[in-house]
Amino acid sequence: MSDALDYLIKVRGDALGHYFKFLKDAGKHLDPKTRNLISVITKVDAQTEAGFRQYLTRALREGCTPMEVVDALLMAFPTLGLAKIVWATEILLDMGLPEFSPELIAAQPAWHRVTEIVDFPDDDVRRIDCGPRSVFVYRKGEDFKVYDSHCPHQVTNIPHLALDGKELTCPKHNWKFDITTGQCIAKGKHPLKAFETKVEDDVLYAYW
Ligand code: FES
Repeated sequence: MSDALDYLIKVRGDALGHYFKFLKDAGKHLDPKTRNLISVITKVDAQTEAGFRQYLTRALREGCTPMEVVDALLMAFPTLGLAKIVWATEILLDMGLPEFSPELIAAQPAWHRVTEIVDFPDDDVRRIDCGPRSVFVYRKGEDFKVYDSHCPHQVTNIPHLALDGKELTCPKHNWKFDITTGQCIAKGKHPLKAFETKVEDDVLYAYW
């Protein structure tokens, strides 16, 4: 939610509350994916960039696939027109989401090689680039955690510099994460996106 909305709720929650209740009730018979995709399209139609980024992030977090987002954009062509679809696509590209890359968008989930583990010290964290995706890897003994480098808030690609010991702080709005668990420990409420892992022949793989 924006600072402006936070402010209006604080000073006129009695009036704004009706609006939010309306928004909540308006889609209550729709499944979550459909609701999320419609929300994304409304933000494209209104061309509110922050809202588009926020609703897109939520749609992906709640199970919409990138191809479904693209389909929704294209289906809304009669009302959006090409200019707004291009506007949204430019923001999508600017967000640098690996799931939307041409290599991954139509790919079935699969195991991806992340790193060799022989030189990976115990209790250490590294940021590793794996093709179009970057991940944070944490090792504890024989256990490995692999997290998407994109913040679960508004998908900022979190740099290595954001790491301080075992704490990772997203530079955009300062959500703080415990890298040993992926949990958000300050400011926000959603954990880092974690991938399933396996080790074979001293090589760490993650599934996405
Ligand atoms: S994008 Fe908002 S805290 Fe990361």
